[in-house]
Amino acid sequence: MHRAWFAARLVGGMLSVLLFTGQSFSWGDEPPGLPKVVHPNGDVPSAKQIALGKQLYFDPRLSRDNTISCASCHDPKKGFSNGETFATGVRNQVGGRNSPTVINTAFQRFQFWDGRAGTLEEQALGPIQNPIEMDMTLEEVVKRLNGIPGYRQQFQDVFGTDVNSEGIAKAIAAYERTVLSGNAPYDQFQAGDKSALSESAQRGMKLFFGRANCSACHAGQNFTDNGFHNIGIGMDAKEPDPGRVAISKLGGDTGAFKTPTLREIARSGPYMHDGSLKTLSDVVAHYNRGGIANPWLDEEMFEMKLTELEQADLVKFLEEGLSSSTYPNHTPPELPQ
Ligand code: HEC
Ligand code: HEC
Repeated sequence: MHRAWFAARLVGGMLSVLLFTGQSFSWGDEPPGLPKVVHPNGDVPSAKQIALGKQLYFDPRLSRDNTISCASCHDPKKGFSNGETFATGVRNQVGGRNSPTVINTAFQRFQFWDGRAGTLEEQALGPIQNPIEMDMTLEEVVKRLNGIPGYRQQFQDVFGTDVNSEGIAKAIAAYERTVLSGNAPYDQFQAGDKSALSESAQRGMKLFFGRANCSACHAGQNFTDNGFHNIGIGMDAKEPDPGRVAISKLGGDTGAFKTPTLREIARSGPYMHDGSLKTLSDVVAHYNRGGIANPWLDEEMFEMKLTELEQADLVKFLEEGLSSSTYPNHTPPELPQ
């Protein structure tokens, strides 16, 4: 029995070394700490489809004046967000919401702050047609890409058709499902490596799952319950963004927004749907105050009276515990001509 236990430990150890050091990514080995990626209709995309999606994601020719790509607002160097309060589209037009990260959107039940799209395929054609983002019509973008031989060829190889909008959406979504972050110090700590987190981060983790109540909403492997909550952000504005209620028509959803993932959160500030909180310390201070009072404030929000040290520990957990050394720091691919 002893020997069997030892053998199991040995194999387990070797496996985790493999997993923890593996930088490359292929289907079936999501980084440790994450659930399996589910593909629509169980359709696992080919490497060619993912490569095509990556080109489209980084290609500004998907926008009217060839200046804006998906990566302009969801930049790998900025946590797949854009480092600004709001998003800036073609002709320097500024929208009214903060760019959410694309990291781990593969696991989300809803896309957008108000959850108005379900799948990544449904989402992908939105920004291309949004007049203040990329400002194209689907007809125009399909025509333009069909004029680029390198795209025509790849669409034939991958989908057996010329460029069409369905293929654009499918390829981009397939690429997005490879933008994953797991195997963070938090996961390594959970898997038994007690040296993975500093003492401060460990204290922060206890608070996160305990007295600070963060895990009431930031739950599970992707640190989100996939739900919508009013935590008071923007509720003191003159005309608050209605959030989820505009989609669900349920009064209780007024000022409620989708709970975002917290993986790689240190990279993607400023924070919240309106980009109103600059740093993670500002975020923790917001929760410590119990949010901003309003009639729809979530019942899980309350004043916490955390000490300065406790607040710093929470920030440390978010920064250190959820930042992975295998961050998907993708660089722009060569674009087809
Ligand atoms: C001009 C900036 C801009 C461009 C360009 C842009 N996005 Fe976005 N993206 C945003 C903003 C802002 C939101 C949130 C909007 C909302 O919730 O109403 C968003 C939301 C998303 C989401 C949902 C994420 C979540 O957690 O809900 C995904 C996925 C996404 N964009 C992917 C893309 C893809 C793919 C492209 C290119 C086809 C793209 N975006 C182009 C700014 C941009
Ligand atoms: C009642 C549910 C709930 C609780 C409790 C909660 N959060 Fe959140 N969190 C949300 C929602 C919803 C948002 C987005 C709100 C918005 O933009 O209006 C959010 C946003 C955030 C963001 C910004 C993410 C981004 O990408 O902009 C951080 C960081 C964060 N929460 C950390 C925490 C921490 C730390 C705690 C515990 C102190 C906590 N949350 C407790 C629901 C919750």
